[in-house]
Amino acid sequence: MPTKLYIQDVAVRDGFQIESQFIPTEQKIHLINSLSHTGLAKIEVTSFSSPKAIPALADAEKVMRAIERVKGVEYAVLVPNLKGCERALACEVDEINLVMSASQSHSLANLRMTPDQSIKQFSEIAKLVGNSASINVSLSTAFGCPFDGDIPQEQVLTYIQKITDLGISKISLCDTTGVANPRQVERLIHAVVNRWPDLVITAHFHNTRGMGLANVMAALNAGVTHFDASLGGLGGCPFAPGASGNVCTEDMVHMLQAMGYDTGVTLTDLLSCANELESILGRALPGQVIKAGPSTRRYPMPTGDGQQRLSGVNLCEVNPTR
Ligand code: COA
Ligand code: ZN
Repeated sequence: MPTKLYIQDVAVRDGFQIESQFIPTEQKIHLINSLSHTGLAKIEVTSFSSPKAIPALADAEKVMRAIERVKGVEYAVLVPNLKGCERALACEVDEINLVMSASQSHSLANLRMTPDQSIKQFSEIAKLVGNSASINVSLSTAFGCPFDGDIPQEQVLTYIQKITDLGISKISLCDTTGVANPRQVERLIHAVVNRWPDLVITAHFHNTRGMGLANVMAALNAGVTHFDASLGGLGGCPFAPGASGNVCTEDMVHMLQAMGYDTGVTLTDLLSCANELESILGRALPGQVIKAGPSTRRYPMPTGDGQQRLSGVNLCEVNPTR
């Protein structure tokens, strides 16, 4: 069982893309720079989608060009088509994360093209990119679609075959609307690992139905070492009904570290970033560890006569990270 895991944060892309209020460019840049010093393996910085489709990330070039690029951190961007790829290459990104969907209907709703049309564009994109950046493909709705329902495993494997036929060796299996369950995750990932043992698989789960961390465990047990997650548990696709936040990065890192895995991330630094994100958005986020503190946290024993009720203690007030 490998102990070194790769944690990839997608909050500033998967999270900010669904925010109704435009987050000022300077605040995005500041947060990304803070995240760069937490020990994350990769940050998905923005997306070069059509600004008409994703107005929240219309400042992609400005953000990508202004961030500090810390050695050891990979800076990825989401790209849906050739035009997006040209924009991304002009900003010298480390990784182009191509997005396509395993389901026909989500593909049409999100990208206005069929999955096979996506593959066709990817083949042109792969030639254009050459050695200028690495390529990952994010396969949305790999575990189910909000329009088409269940996606047969064979259909997912067929798209993976078409992707690997293009010479692409990194794929994210995305549960876009949080419908996957741990058994299904283990089944699909085992099938993928058996057929493509050298493929770098990222597990990308949304916690829409509370199955996120259970699915992380299932993916880990099936051999996955790369995990997407989102600071604070922000996230969601604006073109997938019912989509909500990703697995929360700090909660996932906390769990994995408690289990003895090396995530490379400093949890306290990540919690400060989560605080920064809450201030930017002006609301509390779904993350749990930011509220409760890490499991190693100890409270002073209450003193005085009689038993003291502790319910109603405001954990936030005593949380050292806040
Ligand atoms: N970046 C900037 N502009 C783009 C673009 C891109 N990546 N792709 C297309 N455009 C522009 C075209 O130049 C054209 O501009 P014009 O009207 O001034 O001529 C216009 O958008 C329409 O182009 P077209 O190719 O017809 O795109 P479309 O309207 O069919 O949209 C996508 C297709 C893929 C660009 C769009 O659906 C998209 O960006 N989807 C991504 C959604 C997403 O990021 N979802 C969340 C992630 S899961
Ligand atoms: Zn997502």
